[in-house]
Amino acid sequence: MKNYLVTGGAGFIGSNFIAYILNKYKDIYIINLDSLTYAGNMENLKSVESHNNYKFIQGDICDKGLVEDIFNEYDIDYVVNFAAESHVDRSIKNPDVFVKTNVMGTLNLLNVSKNAWADGEGFKSGKKFIQISTDEVYGSLGDTGFFKEDTPLDPHSPYSASKTSADLMVKSYFDTYKMPINITRCSNNYGPYQFPEKLIPLIINNCLNNKPIPVYGDGLNVRDWLYVEDHCSAIDMVVRRGISGEVYNIGGHNEKTNMDIINNIIEYLNKNVDDLISKNLITYVDDRKGHDKRYGIDPTKIKEELGWYPKTSFEEGIIKTIDWYLGNKQWMDNITMGSYQEYYKKMYNK
Ligand code: NAD
Ligand code: TYD
Repeated sequence: MKNYLVTGGAGFIGSNFIAYILNKYKDIYIINLDSLTYAGNMENLKSVESHNNYKFIQGDICDKGLVEDIFNEYDIDYVVNFAAESHVDRSIKNPDVFVKTNVMGTLNLLNVSKNAWADGEGFKSGKKFIQISTDEVYGSLGDTGFFKEDTPLDPHSPYSASKTSADLMVKSYFDTYKMPINITRCSNNYGPYQFPEKLIPLIINNCLNNKPIPVYGDGLNVRDWLYVEDHCSAIDMVVRRGISGEVYNIGGHNEKTNMDIINNIIEYLNKNVDDLISKNLITYVDDRKGHDKRYGIDPTKIKEELGWYPKTSFEEGIIKTIDWYLGNKQWMDNITMGSYQEYYKKMYNK
């Protein structure tokens, strides 16, 4: 039996990861530590909440005493750190909480793990800290080229700067103490349970509610989209087989402009739900400050070293995703009646 401390497991990717792991393995016990910010949602965990190999603890990754208690109670083998403030627009408005959670929280987890795993001058075997990071740490690409693991770090937003700082702390614990670590840097995810402040669920939700779709700038910024389950399978491989100290980029060469995504979703909903859903909803708004132009991952390393490849094409993944939101309107309504509603009003004065 391996014990995983998964942090931020009530969010979008963390909840998908927990379900993926518990469905796949019988010999893994998961402790999910999540403080339930606006982005954390217990409904995301309905399918696993009564699983024998699962335990939820509400709490903050910055809380040293709590994290120590967890390590004292459970013999933690792997920490998989998803917990973060994750939205670029929020980081532009309020950077402080990004530093607190993303940097100081990660540092706290590193310190407690290091103390718990210490064995003389080294570390107990079979232990590892996995930092879930993002391609945004590399900054922005021009029209050509891809992010490789050794591309210089050049973050632009307070969000990506905080994630970069955390990555550097994690790397320093390997370089200085030889603590076993991996860092994964994935491109934009999409799929079930994504909070509707992010582009894809925002488009779906606004179309279904006849609200304008805000397009930042010219809508030609490019993101490299990966279906969330493919991200989960990559993290699983890195946890089990990633070479300690290594960084792995995760992405599937799926670059699309924001307008491609918007048009694709409108067309699907127009055909399959309501022919009143149309491009009339598209509304150009001021560009995001410091808006990165293009992200694109080179996944050669994880493909060649760990044999990972994405199984879901964009064409298949986007339909699965839209259909999931259509089949789970209650989930979306519960969110939009709460914090998202306020957020939307503040952001767009609608
Ligand atoms: P999310 O915002 O949906 O979820 C974040 C979760 O962390 C929430 O459940 C929240 O309650 C929890 N959390 C926040 N602060 C906390 C704290 N101080 N202590 C404990 N829990 C806390 O985020 P996501 O999209 O699922 O992203 C998860 C991770 O993956 C993040 O680290 C993010 O940087 C990274 N990532 C995301 C993407 C993407 O496209 N969404 C891509 C690459 C990497
Ligand atoms: P987002 O989902 O916030 O992810 P990230 O900024 O981390 O890549 O945004 C994806 C792209 O969509 C990004 O180029 C910004 C753009 N965008 C809009 O044009 N309108 C919106 O309302 C949102 C949320 C994003």
